Amino acid sequence: MKILVTGGAGYIGSHTCVELLKKNYDVVVLDNFSNSCEESLNRVQNITRKKLSFYEADLLKPSDIHQVFKDHKIDAVIHFAGLKAVGESVTIPLKYYHNNLTGTFNLLSAMDQFNVKNLVFSSSATVYGDPTTLPITEEFPLCATNPYGRTKLIIEEVLQDLYQSDKSWSIALLRYFNPVGAHESGQIGEDPQGLPNNLMPYISQVAVGLLPRLSVFGSDYNTPDGTGVRDYIHVTDLALGHILTLPKLTSKPGVATYNLGTGNGFSVLEIIKEFEKASNQKISYQITDRRPGDIATCFADSSKAKKELGWETTKSLEDMCKDTWNWQKNNPEGYRKHSKED
Ligand code: NAD
Ligand code: UFG
Repeated sequence: MKILVTGGAGYIGSHTCVELLKKNYDVVVLDNFSNSCEESLNRVQNITRKKLSFYEADLLKPSDIHQVFKDHKIDAVIHFAGLKAVGESVTIPLKYYHNNLTGTFNLLSAMDQFNVKNLVFSSSATVYGDPTTLPITEEFPLCATNPYGRTKLIIEEVLQDLYQSDKSWSIALLRYFNPVGAHESGQIGEDPQGLPNNLMPYISQVAVGLLPRLSVFGSDYNTPDGTGVRDYIHVTDLALGHILTLPKLTSKPGVATYNLGTGNGFSVLEIIKEFEKASNQKISYQITDRRPGDIATCFADSSKAKKELGWETTKSLEDMCKDTWNWQKNNPEGYRKHSKED
C-alpha cells in the first residue's frame, strides 16, 4: 500500500514515516519545509534503512499536489501539514486560515479528482475547548477558542460534509492530546524554530543550557499542585495510532473520530520532576502569570481507539522524558547542526 504523508518532514509526520516504513508501507512525503527540513527525512531513512519518495511541494499550489498524484498511485493520505502555533494563530489568523484551510481544500480536491478517498486527518484535543467534566470522550461538545483550533474544527466539519455528499470517502479524525518525546534512537525529534511554545521542548532546551529558565504559567489552577494538567502522549505511540487506523479506513467507508491520549494527566511540576530524573539536570523555573487561553486540566478517554483500532499506549512518562532528553542532548540545536555523534 502506498501512503501519501503531507507534512511528513515535521515532528509527528517523521515519526509516523518511520513506523510506516517499518510496516513495509510505501511512503511518499509532501512537505514545503515551512517548519521542518530535509534532514529529518534523511534520518527517517537511516533509522529504517528504507527509502521513501519525497516532494518539496506546497499544498497551496494545486499543481504541486497534482504532480504527486500523477506520479504515484496513492491508496491513502495521512494529512499532517499545517501551521500549529496557537499564539501565532491569534496574531496572524489569515495566514492560518489560508494555509490550513486552503491547503486542505486543495488536497481534498486533488484526492477527489484522482479518486483517492481514504484520509487520516490530524485533529487536536483543542476542539474540546475547556471541558466541563473529565476524561474527555469523542462525544463531548466542540468549540474553538483560537484561530488554530477553529481551522481544526472547520476541517472536521468539511470532512463530515464531504462524506455526506459522497459515501465512498473513508475518513478518520484523530484528536491528539499532547504529543511529546522522540524516537528511541535519538535521531529524530521535535525541532521548534525559535522559542518553543510547548512545555516539553522548552524544558529540554533549559536542560541542555540553551534557555536560562522555564516559566511555569500559573500555580493557582484548581489542580492538585495548582499547575496545569495535560495528557502527554509519546510521539511513537501516537504514530502507531495512525498505522492501526489505516486498515480500518480501507475496510469500510465513513467518518470515525478517535481520541489519542494515554488517559493520564500530569501537572507541569510533575513533568519538571520527571525530566530532572531522566536527564540528571536541574531545571531552573519560576512561577509566572497564567498564559491567556490555557485551561486547568485536560485528559482523554481513549477507550474507543482501544476497542475499535486495538490501539493502546505503551510508553510511560519516564520514556517520554528519557527519549526527549536523548534527542535534545545529541542534537542541541535540532537538525540545524549535525548530531554530536556524527
Ligand atoms: P510540524 O510543524 O512539525 O509539522 C507540520 C509539517 O507541515 C511541517 O513539516 C511543515 O513544513 C509542513 N507544512 C505546513 N504547511 C504546509 C503546506 N502549505 N504545504 C506543505 N507542507 C506544509 O507539526 P507537528 O507537531 O508534526 O503536527 C502535525 C499535525 O498535527 C499538525 O496538523 C498539527 O496541527 C497537529 N497537531 C499537533 C499537535 C502538537 O502538539 N504537536 C497537537 C495536536 C495536533
Ligand atoms: N506551560 C508552561 N510553560 C511553558 C509552556 C507550557 O507552564 O513554557 C504549561 C501550560 O500552561 C500547560 C502545559 O504546560 O499547562 C502544557 O502546555 P503546552 O503548550 O505544551 O500544550 P497545550 O496543552 O497548551 O497545547 C498543546 C498544543 C495545542 C494542542 C493541545 C492539545 O500546543 O496545539 O496541546 O492537543 F491543541
